Amino acid sequence: MALSDRLELVNPSEIRKLFDLAAGIEGLISLGIGEPDFDTPEHIKEYAKEALDKGYTHYGPNAGLPMLREAVAKKLKEQNGIEADPKTEVMILTGANQAFLMSLATFLKDGDEVLIPSPMFVSYAPAVVLAGGNPVEVPTYEENEFRLSVDDLKRYVSEKTRALIINTPNNPTGSVLTKKDLEEIADFAVEHDLIVISDEVYEHFVYDGIKNHSIAALDGMFERTITVNGFSKTFAMTGWRLGFVAAPAWIIEKMTRFQMYNSTCPVTFAQYAAAKALEDPRSWEAVEGMRKEYDRRRNLVWKRLNEMGLPTLKPRGAFYIFPRIRDTGLSSKEFSELMLTEARVAVVPGSAFGNAGEGYIRISYATAYEKLEEAMNRMEKVLREKNLV
Ligand SMILES: Cc1ncc(COP(=O)(O)O)c(C=O)c1O
Repeated sequence: MALSDRLELVNPSEIRKLFDLAAGIEGLISLGIGEPDFDTPEHIKEYAKEALDKGYTHYGPNAGLPMLREAVAKKLKEQNGIEADPKTEVMILTGANQAFLMSLATFLKDGDEVLIPSPMFVSYAPAVVLAGGNPVEVPTYEENEFRLSVDDLKRYVSEKTRALIINTPNNPTGSVLTKKDLEEIADFAVEHDLIVISDEVYEHFVYDGIKNHSIAALDGMFERTITVNGFSKTFAMTGWRLGFVAAPAWIIEKMTRFQMYNSTCPVTFAQYAAAKALEDPRSWEAVEGMRKEYDRRRNLVWKRLNEMGLPTLKPRGAFYIFPRIRDTGLSSKEFSELMLTEARVAVVPGSAFGNAGEGYIRISYATAYEKLEEAMNRMEKVLREKNLV
């Protein structure tokens, strides 16, 4: 099938449609957006200015600046226990989002199946479709804290399965896979000879003293894993469009070829700033500051949602919370529309994240504490007035 035909199969994300609807509503509080409300730390902006003054205004290598690939390799070794050669096994991207289509395009054949735990980040299934494959949703359950289990995977694996996408900490549920979960998933991947795409963009935002683990660090997994990460969430740099992957050299070589004919390379002065940022302790202090503030907001929203009668798991990571709204009798779309029009609060229907998301909504708490308080009050008022809880 031609790429132009496949493009017909993917639709604009439901989240975008909701934002169009929300655009005209005055006094709206948006809990819909999936990006940090913090500004990029000042010293990182200074590094970008320094880069411009130093003449980082030209094209760079397709795989990214060597200085950033080296800084990423060092970070992966120290923080994630992943040994990747910066010359051949690390690549810088124009945002982590590029990783999915580009990496799938290196190995997927027409009709190959890719297992995706659902609810899932909106880019995964379209990336699989564009790369010529078939996305297969593997439902995860509130009863298991939305953590992917091998029992779930076993029901959906087939002869055609070629890859598995995992996302920890998870968007939209906030679930975090344990090391044991990852070990079991790794064994499953080896048994079925699957490539694993591991999306770890929220790795630094975990709570209750837990740590996020990287599957590529487990014995024998690097050779079959594409680790995806980036700067958008970690350093509040969404608009800079910078991400990275670590993967076996044959995958990086093909992704680099793809990039050659796509965006050529990520912005060079942004890459310089990111390389400097990775090695500057002030960046990690800023990350810890953001993490603490997200944690404070998480506690508030979790408490208020349960108090108002929406049963909600306490998420362990990312900056999302995923309340169950099924008992109100409304679909997640109806519930979100009601909140938009009556409470002037934008939330995202769980159905936007796959079939397993129905019956839930996603709330992003990457919003000021006071706004979250006000949004919770408004939601509760509407729910009580309409006798929905
Ligand atoms: C789970 C997940 N992966 C990847 C991305 C993409 O991040 P980037 O801004 O680096 O493209 C997002 C952005 O929302 C995300 O939530």
